[in-house]
Amino acid sequence: MQRQPVVIANWKMNGNRQLAKQMAEALREEAGLLSQVQVVVCPPAVLLPAWQQHVFYDAVHLGAQDVNEFEHGAHTGEHSLALLGEAGAEYILIGHSERRQHYGDTDARISAKVNAVLNYQAQQLKVVLCVGETEAERETHQTTTVVEAQLSAALEQVTAAQMTHVVIAYEPVWAIGTGKTASPAQAQEVHRFIRSWLQQKYAAADTVPLLYGGSVKADNAETLFAEQDIDGGLIGGASLEPDAFVAICRAAV
Ligand code: G3H
Repeated sequence: MQRQPVVIANWKMNGNRQLAKQMAEALREEAGLLSQVQVVVCPPAVLLPAWQQHVFYDAVHLGAQDVNEFEHGAHTGEHSLALLGEAGAEYILIGHSERRQHYGDTDARISAKVNAVLNYQAQQLKVVLCVGETEAERETHQTTTVVEAQLSAALEQVTAAQMTHVVIAYEPVWAIGTGKTASPAQAQEVHRFIRSWLQQKYAAADTVPLLYGGSVKADNAETLFAEQDIDGGLIGGASLEPDAFVAICRAAV
């Protein structure tokens, strides 16, 4: 099954309008590349309008780093799907380990957010569901148990048809921002597990992009993306450097 590669920049709480302009200019030089790779940029939500000004030929897609599960109301500091969609987001990251660990994203809340995105009627948006184990969990051989539990909880109410709007990012927590990348074989092993898990449940399993995240850099992207079940990456630190990010996008082709 040939899947289009996907590379997503997660700027986390970094970047500014100037970087949005620089990154857009770097990507604008890459028209050929952008027709082969789905490139998505998830800046902090307040930068989405700045990015919208730079998005060209529908070739660069925008995403948000999180969403509130409620439609609107008294949720100070939060962003609704309607607001994010209006600001240009087409993809919504859900369940990033930083949110699971520090911002109260329980399995129940992650499931509610996934359902909110996939049931949103005003616009067809895509979920990027993040899963991954901690170092202690890997060392005690619980990686697949943890990943399976995260997938089951988050996707419990997702229908087969809705799976065509889901991307899954495997991000081992011990590899995020640490410089300790999973080896291609380690990453592929978990991706293969996720693919098999999806195949047991969904007809569209083979079309779901599976991305690897965790210290992906220009010099290790190619070997990771060469693995059979790794369809691209979710990039943190290196997505703040235009040259490095473009090189990573190139490695996905
Ligand atoms: O969302 C991105 C991941 O957390 C990876 O971040 O590339 O800085 O390790 P990193």
